[in-house]
Amino acid sequence: MSFNIAIDGPAGAGKSTIAKRAAKELSFIYVDTGAMYRAIALGLMRSDTEIEDERLLEQALAGIEVTIDYRDGVQQVYLNGENVSGLIRTEEVSAMTSACAAKPQVRAKLTDLQRDLARRENVLMDGRDIGTAILPDAQLKIYLTASVRTRAERRYKELLERGENCSLAEIEKEIGERDYRDMHRETAPLKQAEDAVLVDSSDMTIEEVTARIIQLARERMERGYGA
Ligand code: DC
Repeated sequence: MSFNIAIDGPAGAGKSTIAKRAAKELSFIYVDTGAMYRAIALGLMRSDTEIEDERLLEQALAGIEVTIDYRDGVQQVYLNGENVSGLIRTEEVSAMTSACAAKPQVRAKLTDLQRDLARRENVLMDGRDIGTAILPDAQLKIYLTASVRTRAERRYKELLERGENCSLAEIEKEIGERDYRDMHRETAPLKQAEDAVLVDSSDMTIEEVTARIIQLARERMERGYGA
């Protein structure tokens, strides 16, 4: 039986950086589910699909296949066989992904793929609904968050380092709005699973959070929760 770790939480809490490091240390496969949603969004953008029209959305989704594999341990995501990993991190794709991820038809398309991976391998999967909807029986669930202010400051620093002009107040507002959308959508909203361990990274370093997750995983594995 595989051992599954679910990490959910809002954007900017450090999920992917921490999840990647913890998975490596534990020799688990890291599954970035956000990348799968991003690949679908790219597919729908390319076909210029009006996603509010259910019939058109379903037609377009029937022609979209998302798969993943790993190159040197790094997840690659494919849209109908094309590696789109380098094309899915733009602001345009992020905005489209947020809208698409609210559609039940889009979420249904990825559920089996995600569950199948978790059944076969020890995975550390990050997303928004992994502990609540995709892997309700995961042996360890983490809800990783940080205050809106902290997440905005982190993003602000990142953008400044990249030489981009931005306003902290504007970023804070956008993060607050995105949280609201993710937490209030009808299908699989972002929320802490009842049995998830809450980790607030506002005053913790990446190393501290990673160490905490590894410690929790090792404790549970030793207690014989699967694996
Ligand atoms: O984690 P990320 O920023 O790559 O996620 C991109 C978008 O996809 C974001 O709007 C949240 C959504 N998402 C989701 O609804 N469910 C998931 N399991 C993962 C991501």
